[in-house]
Parts: sequence; structure tokens; C-alpha cells
Amino acid sequence: MKGDKDSRWFEVECVPKNYIFSKEDRPQNLDAPVSDSIPVIDLAISNLQASAVNINGHNTQLVEQISMASQQFGFFQVINHGIQEKTLSDAMIVVKEFFDMQLSGKETRSRHKEGYIYTRSIDYVKDGVHLWRENLKHPCHPLEECIHLWPDKPTQYQEVIAAYLVEIQKLSSRILEMICEGLGLKEGYLKDTSEVQLLVSNFYPPCPDPSLTLGLLPHYDPSLITLVYQGGSTGLQVMKDGQWLNVGAIPNAFSVNIGNQLEIISNKKLKSVKHRVVTCAHEARQSIVTHVNPCLDCVIEPAKILVDELEPSVYKASQYKDYVQRNKAFGDYTTAIQNA
Ligand code: OGA
Ligand code: NI
Repeated sequence: MKGDKDSRWFEVECVPKNYIFSKEDRPQNLDAPVSDSIPVIDLAISNLQASAVNINGHNTQLVEQISMASQQFGFFQVINHGIQEKTLSDAMIVVKEFFDMQLSGKETRSRHKEGYIYTRSIDYVKDGVHLWRENLKHPCHPLEECIHLWPDKPTQYQEVIAAYLVEIQKLSSRILEMICEGLGLKEGYLKDTSEVQLLVSNFYPPCPDPSLTLGLLPHYDPSLITLVYQGGSTGLQVMKDGQWLNVGAIPNAFSVNIGNQLEIISNKKLKSVKHRVVTCAHEARQSIVTHVNPCLDCVIEPAKILVDELEPSVYKASQYKDYVQRNKAFGDYTTAIQNA
């Protein structure tokens, strides 16, 4: 290993032994092409092109596309979402600067009690694995109360990420409303109880042998929905019918995945999707992941109108905070839903 052992752990010619996964956990078929079956949804589809605009002002064609994708894949990408390119690129830049500072060893603070958490690759050993990534996470809601808990270096971080999150809030509310509408739930069903609560940024360095390790283990998100911005890179994979599919690198697109809470609310009509991240030999990858979660006191249960004698409730009601508590043992790697 070159340089400082802790800070430049990934500058190696071979994957260090303690980063090598057991055979059954290693990724196969890394040369598989990007999947062309994963839905890409154009949010700017005009009302003229669309068959109709419904009473809520939503375009019925879009609602239908989102609904199908959420049922069949639990996953889709959105393009022409209305967020300015500069808002996205500025966010990627400050996040990159944050990671660069940590990795060069110029910044040593790694954990703040109530604020952000920076996890170095070597810290994953507590989970029994070494992941090929560095990770930053912090709370985001309410924005005004959280912002001072975030990294204050680089100096632009707080301002740039706050601007990013304001846009994510608008976009995610719009998507969530259309998902609810597709389920037949009344307008505003999750409006006052869903929040962009958590921001997770990941830095995946180039890896000398991507077939031996993973950037992120297979997991389900504990959220309602999650939005991933990956800046036009590949690496994210989603599970469909027992196969890992490579998510394409569409510049400026967001990946949207259905999380466990929405699977519960939909009484399993929508699927929380299993996903993971593979590494790349040639280039580093960075993602900014925003989790839209229910508020902690919310009771999460299948929506009443989606439950009847033919389709009884598949999940028990549970406060979201109890759900979080139950899943704490799994750390970052959220499992399938536990309260069936
Ligand atoms: C996550 C996640 C994907 C990525 O942080 O939950 O799935 O591309 N990240 O980093
Ligand atoms: Ni995830």
C-alpha cells in the first residue's frame, strides 16, 4: 500500500486480503451490459403528448408509467426532472471536496455525535466486511435545524447541499404523489408525513479487481422512496427475477427506488427493490443518496383501501421509529421487511 495506510487505503495494485469477499458474495457477470429493460421516465412529457391530465393536475400517462415501474421493478430512472444541472454538479463538487479532504488526511474529525457521520472503509470491519467505499451521512430535516450539524468544510458545503435538498424535496414530493395516485390513495396521502430525512454520500474509489469485492452489499432501503444521483456513472445494480441488472449511466438522471415503508403501505403491490453497488477498475464513482422517510411517530401500515377480504393485510402496523429500532442491528445493510 502506498502512502499513509489509513488515508489512501485504496491505492493498491491488488485487493487487500481483508477486502476480498467470500466466493458466494462476490459479484458475477461484471461484463453484463447495462440493462435496457429498466424504465426511464421522462418527467417533462408534455400534457399535449399525454392522453389526459387528471383532476390533481398530474399527467395520467406519467402516473401510469411510474405505477408500472414501481410494481414491476420497484425501481426507475427519471430524466427531465426540472432540477438545474448546476445544482447537481455543485453538489457533486462539494461532496468530492469533502471526501478528498478526509482521504488526504487533512481533516481528521470523523464523527459528530448528533451531526454527520463519516465512515472510512476500515470502519466496516465491525460489520464483518470491508466495503470498497467511504461514506458520509447526515440528517436533513428540518433543514434549518440540521444544517449547522453538517460538515463546515469545504466552506460551501452547507449552502450548496441545502440548495440541493430544497430541489430534492420538491422532486420527491412530486414523484411520491404520483405513486400514491397510481395506488388509488387520496391526494396528499403522504404529503405531511414524508420528509427528506437523510442524505448519504458515497465515494467508491477505483478497485484493482472488481470481481473480488463490493462497494455496497445487497440491501433494501428502509425509506418510502430513495433518490440516487450518480452523476452519469454505472455501478448500481438492482435485483429483478433473481438477476442483477446494471443501471445505465444517464447524465443528470435520478434513480428512484421503492423502499420498505412504501411496500408496507401499498400492501405489497409495490416492491422494495434489492440493490447493491459494484466497483469499477478504471474510475472512481460518487453518489448522493437521499432517503425520503416517514416521520418517526407515523404509524406505517397497509392503506385501508388496499386491504379487503381478497387481499388481506400482509403487514402489521408499526410506528416508523420502532421499525428503525428493530433494524438497527443490521447497520447499513437493511434487510427485507421484518414485521410480516
Ligand atoms: C444506499 C445506496 C447506492 C449508490 O446508500 O442506500 O443504495 O449508488 N446507494 O451509492
Ligand atoms: Ni440503498
